[in-house]
Amino acid sequence: MIDLTTNEEQIERNARYCAQNDIILPTYDEMQRPQIVPEAIKAELKTIAREAVHPRNLFRVTWENEPVEHGGTYGGVNYLELPAVLTGVPARIVGLVGKWFPTGAHKVGAAYSCLAPTLVTGQFDPDKNMAVWPSTGNYCRGGAFISRLLGCKSVAILPEEMSQERFEWLKNMANETIATPGCESNVKEIFDKCHELSRERGAEVFIFNQFEQLGNHLWHHEVTGPAIERVLSELMGPRDRVAGTCVSSGSGGTIAGGEYIKSKFPHAKLAVSEAAQCPTLLANGFGGHRIEGIGDKHVPWIHNVKNTDMVVAIDDEDSMRLFRLFNEPVGREYLVSKGVPKETVDQLGLLGISCVCNLLTAIKFARYYELTENDFVTTVFTDSAGMYQTRLAELEEARGAYTRDDAVADYALLQAIRTDQLLELRYEDRKRIHNLKYYTWVEQQGKTYDEINAQWHDRDYWSSIYAVKPKLNRLITEFNERIKVYRKQ
Ligand SMILES: Cc1ncc(COP(=O)(O)O)c(C=O)c1O
Repeated sequence: MIDLTTNEEQIERNARYCAQNDIILPTYDEMQRPQIVPEAIKAELKTIAREAVHPRNLFRVTWENEPVEHGGTYGGVNYLELPAVLTGVPARIVGLVGKWFPTGAHKVGAAYSCLAPTLVTGQFDPDKNMAVWPSTGNYCRGGAFISRLLGCKSVAILPEEMSQERFEWLKNMANETIATPGCESNVKEIFDKCHELSRERGAEVFIFNQFEQLGNHLWHHEVTGPAIERVLSELMGPRDRVAGTCVSSGSGGTIAGGEYIKSKFPHAKLAVSEAAQCPTLLANGFGGHRIEGIGDKHVPWIHNVKNTDMVVAIDDEDSMRLFRLFNEPVGREYLVSKGVPKETVDQLGLLGISCVCNLLTAIKFARYYELTENDFVTTVFTDSAGMYQTRLAELEEARGAYTRDDAVADYALLQAIRTDQLLELRYEDRKRIHNLKYYTWVEQQGKTYDEINAQWHDRDYWSSIYAVKPKLNRLITEFNERIKVYRKQ
């Protein structure tokens, strides 16, 4: 559970520290509906770049940032709808766009939601503690960014084979960056490094393990889910229906946004995808793959498996080929020649590699359920192509320049996506996946036998996480009030 044990003296110290450093914290309600953010803060945002290390950028931890580099406040939720001429299915596939968060990825929200509760309860001391962010890239970038805004030290831990852009970015943001052996799916090595740091540095380090931290789940349930809901309310007509949400699983956080949608639309389903080269959910499988950000050879602790309806494996080669089609000028020209509207093609750079995987998941889901133009399928475009330009260069080096023939073949691949490597989950399939958690979390990572059983059997386990939101809102508001008092002194 999210620990709300308070330490009064440390809360006072933290509030004083935030007053000195001009920090104010956004509540969950403000991240969910940034229109309610005080006008004075909006006025400040107009003078601040989206990527600036400025504490007011904490108020850009929302899906509603205006899509500009500098000085934007809030527009509507950022999303992109992909038309049937591109996807090959009539269903309306809509994805929230993560590029407009500071850091260019939504993971900054998960990072904030793991750290903020510890700050306002006085469990974390920004003066003394070092925030450790184990990740495959975007979460540790988000964590390093949040740490800088809060003026505390950070350690980013990620596998050495992650994209060069991630490492470059971290150089200027994290106090320490640790590269662990292996690729995207080598998460056990990250966990080992965290334990090593704890042993060596003791109480100084504070590990925010996104794969187990329920603050990550909470943020997506209470911020991403309502953002998807708002887009749906904008787009849906009286005859339309929400068929479901399709997202890949890295830490398992984003999945909670789909759970929120399920709670609001009774027919909606939730499909969770992973790389076919590492089919852990589908087949207890393991392996390396190239879809950065997802699929880590284990079932995250924060994944409520009982509420997942389908698992889907996506070939990393398909994701890479389509990523090229969407980003190479020849590919884009070809898409326009096939009738994909130019304004859509111009926006395809909003999809990073795992976003292509999410799109493919949505297409498979739409094919499986034979969805029509009255069915909405929602997904999330976590980050953008900006994080993977070196991957494009590597592909060009390995395969030669992208040609029209490549574009023809890749567009045909997209139209031919079918329902292979997919499983609609029965009760016992869900149980099988949930049981896999035991080996990672109870045997290796110190979770209790009682809690893993509670996740499956206790009807209140997951809903009690959502019940924490109003308490956190209150704690953050009270904390901001204390900051105000110290500022005046
Ligand atoms: C690019 C990218 N896609 C997808 C994900 C998966 O999101 P989640 O961790 O919420 O499951 C991540 C997570 O780090 C990511 O960085």
